[in-house]
Amino acid sequence: MASTKDSAVVLGRYSNICVIGAGVIGASWTALFLAHGLNVVVNDLQPDIETMVKAALLKIAPTLHALGLPHQSLDRNLRFETDLDRAVATADLVQENGPERPEWKQQLWARIEPVVPKHALLLSSSSARPATEQGREMKDASRLLVGHPFNPPHLIPLVEVVPGERTDPKAVEEALAFYEALGKVPRVLKKEIQGFVANRLQRAIMREACYLVQEGVVTVDELDDIVTSSIGLRWAVNGPFSSFHMGGGPKGLESFFQHLGKNMAASFKVIPSVELDEKLQRRIVEQAAASFGRTPIPEMERKRDDAQVALLRTLSSLPAPDGESRL
Ligand SMILES: NC(=O)c1ccc[n+]([C@@H]2O[C@H](COP(=O)([O-])OP(=O)(O)OC[C@H]3O[C@@H](n4cnc5c(N)ncnc54)[C@H](O)[C@@H]3O)[C@@H](O)[C@H]2O)c1
Repeated sequence: MASTKDSAVVLGRYSNICVIGAGVIGASWTALFLAHGLNVVVNDLQPDIETMVKAALLKIAPTLHALGLPHQSLDRNLRFETDLDRAVATADLVQENGPERPEWKQQLWARIEPVVPKHALLLSSSSARPATEQGREMKDASRLLVGHPFNPPHLIPLVEVVPGERTDPKAVEEALAFYEALGKVPRVLKKEIQGFVANRLQRAIMREACYLVQEGVVTVDELDDIVTSSIGLRWAVNGPFSSFHMGGGPKGLESFFQHLGKNMAASFKVIPSVELDEKLQRRIVEQAAASFGRTPIPEMERKRDDAQVALLRTLSSLPAPDGESRL
């Protein structure tokens, strides 16, 4: 983990950030960047964007406070600029959080390429669109890569850093250093793959969760309870592989595969058929409305942030197996 002094040096290179698109993800990034003392220019065409972002900053402030970050008067270093050229003209780094449409992202990068400073890092929060595809219309895509956060970026540590075919390895190093300096846990993917890693895992679990509700095995709130009281707790401490390593006995994964490998291999071939049609969607929405859906979303978000902060604090106070700090 970078020392506070090292982080300050790294962040000093990116004091001017342009956030393009300030909805759910962009507003959360904005709060985190401002809390680290960076100047942020928001480019978003929604007429009430200023009110929305400022409301988001107020909502996020208690979480920043709990994380030990500055949380007052955050909007001191915040500016709004609807003219894209002017918004990126002095940026050291662009974090893009616009619509998840490949052609929109392609046009955006090609459009700003001639005006953004040559040294600027160009990072996309995209959940699924690779940098190679996004940069197709650019002459020089060497500074473009994906920096995919997990919602909400002001709180969840992971950032998937995914270079494209034309990304300069130096830009990857710079992105890693930047996110580390923000206290994130960036992980570089060795290959581009649609959906990256964390969302592919979520997708696999969500398919099975929808199947179990479709088949009437459990309701949505029962399924959520089962997850939070078992694999959710387990995976905050150990990933799936190290969990099964301990589940295998003295020889770990080797004996795990000896005992259960054949059954697991056979079960992998049986892919449940899920029809996430209107009927199943309605069932899920109705079951949610009758359980956790009764709680207003801002209240759920507050409780989520408080619990996540408590969890992060606890985990970071424990030594990891190699003696290093965990986070
Ligand atoms: N929501 C998530 O859980 C999540 C998680 C990680 C990554 N992402 C990715 O982040 C990006 C944004 O997702 P989101 O959930 O914040 O979406 P969102 O709809 O909440 O926000 C998108 C914002 O982009 C703005 N916008 C639209 N056209 C624009 C334009 N031409 N110029 C500037 N701004 C424009 C919109 O006004 C809106 O505020 C997507 O690429 C998505 O895949 C989302």
